Amino acid sequence: MKSKENLEKTMFSYTIDSNGLEEENKLLRETISQLKSEVDKFKTPALLVGEIMDLTEENAIVRLPNGNSFLVEISNSVKNIKPGDSVLLEQKNLTVVDKVTKSKKFNVEQFVILEKPKVSWSDIGGLKEQIEDIKEVIELPLIKPELFKKVGIQPPKGILLYGPPGTGKTLLAKAVASSTHSAFIEIVGSELVQKFIGEGAKLVKEIFQLAREKAPSIVFIDELDALASKRIDIGTSGEREVQRTFMQFLAELDGFKPLGNVKVIGCTNREDILDPAIIRPGRLDRLIMVPGPDEDGIREIFKIHTRNMTLDKRIDLDKVLKKMKEFSGAEIKAVCTESGYFAIRSNRKKIIEEDILKAIKKVMKEEEKLGKDILKMYG
Ligand SMILES: Nc1ncnc2c1ncn2[C@@H]1O[C@H](COP(=O)(O)OP(=O)(O)O)[C@@H](O)[C@H]1O
Ligand SMILES: [Mg+2]
Repeated sequence: MKSKENLEKTMFSYTIDSNGLEEENKLLRETISQLKSEVDKFKTPALLVGEIMDLTEENAIVRLPNGNSFLVEISNSVKNIKPGDSVLLEQKNLTVVDKVTKSKKFNVEQFVILEKPKVSWSDIGGLKEQIEDIKEVIELPLIKPELFKKVGIQPPKGILLYGPPGTGKTLLAKAVASSTHSAFIEIVGSELVQKFIGEGAKLVKEIFQLAREKAPSIVFIDELDALASKRIDIGTSGEREVQRTFMQFLAELDGFKPLGNVKVIGCTNREDILDPAIIRPGRLDRLIMVPGPDEDGIREIFKIHTRNMTLDKRIDLDKVLKKMKEFSGAEIKAVCTESGYFAIRSNRKKIIEEDILKAIKKVMKEEEKLGKDILKMYG
C-alpha cells in the first residue's frame, strides 16, 4: 500500500514537472519567434520617404528628398493617397508601399519651444521705455483690438528687438506673452537654417499654422539675422535654401492681419546686417533698441536677482554696483548666482560683500576669455 502511495506521489510530481516544462518550452518558442522577426527586420532594406507629386490611375509621380522625380507603381495595399502625401518607397523600383501617417502638429511642436511663460514686468530691471513701447504696440492691440478699430489705426504685426546680448530681449518677449496670456512659440534663426535643411520653408509655414491654432500667440524668433541677413550673392544651394525659408517667413508675415491675435517678435544683436525687407511697413516695422543697463538699471537688476537671497547688512551696495558698470543683465544675474555659490562653499547662508566681489571678478574673467576666443575665431 505504502509503495503504491509513493508511486502515485512521484507520478503526480512528474505531471507537475512536465506541465512546467511545457510552459517553459512555450516561452522559449515565443522568444525564438520574436528574435526571428527582429532578425527579419534587420534583413529588410530601409524604405525611402518621398512625396506624391501627381497621380494617374495606376501610377504615381513621386519626388525623392534629393529632388529627383520618378513615375512609379503603387502597391495594391495602399489606399487613399493624394498629391502632397508623404509615402514610403521600396528601394529597388520605388514602388509605393505605404503612406506615412504623421501628425503635422506633432511634427512642428517637436521642433519649436512652445510654452506659457511666467515672467512679469517686475522681473525686468530698467528698460522702462522699452516696456512702455511693447505694451503699446503688442499688449494693447491683443487685449483691446476694438480700441484700434474705433480709432482706425493699425498696430504693427510685429516688432524687432535689437541690441547687445544678455540685455533682456527674450525676457521682454516672454513678459508680454505672460501679460497677454499668449502662447509663446520660440524658434532660433540659426537652427531653422542649419538643422532643418530642405525643410526650413515648410517648418516656417507650420509654425505659423501652429501660432494660429494656439492664438493668442507670440512667435518669437531669436537670432533673426541668421535667417534674414542681406546676402551679397546667393550662389550656393545652402544660401538659396536660407533664402527660400526667409521668403516663406515674409509671406507668412504678409499673410496675417494686423488686428489678429498672432504677433511676431524678432530679435537680433546684428541689426546692421538685416535684410531691410524684414522691417518694411506691414512687417516687423517697429524697431526697439534694447541697450545694456544704466546705473539705475544695474541696481534694479541686482535687486531682482537677489530678492530671494539673504544679503549681509554690511554690504556697501554702491561700491559693488559700481564695479558692474559695463555688465549686461545676464552678467549681473551671473554675479548674483556666483555670489550664492561662494557663500555655499564657505558654509554660509548669508551673502557677504566678499562673495559678491569674488563673483564680479569671476564673471569679468569669463567675459575676457570669451572676448579672446571670439578674437581668435576671427583672428
Ligand atoms: N533687464 C533685465 N532685468 C532682469 N534680468 C535680466 C535683464 N536682462 C537680462 N537679464 C537676465 O539675463 C537672462 C538672459 O537675458 P535675455 O533676455 O535672454 O537676453 P537677450 O535675449 O537680450 O540676449 C535673463 O533670463 C535674465 O535672468
Ligand atoms: Mg535671448
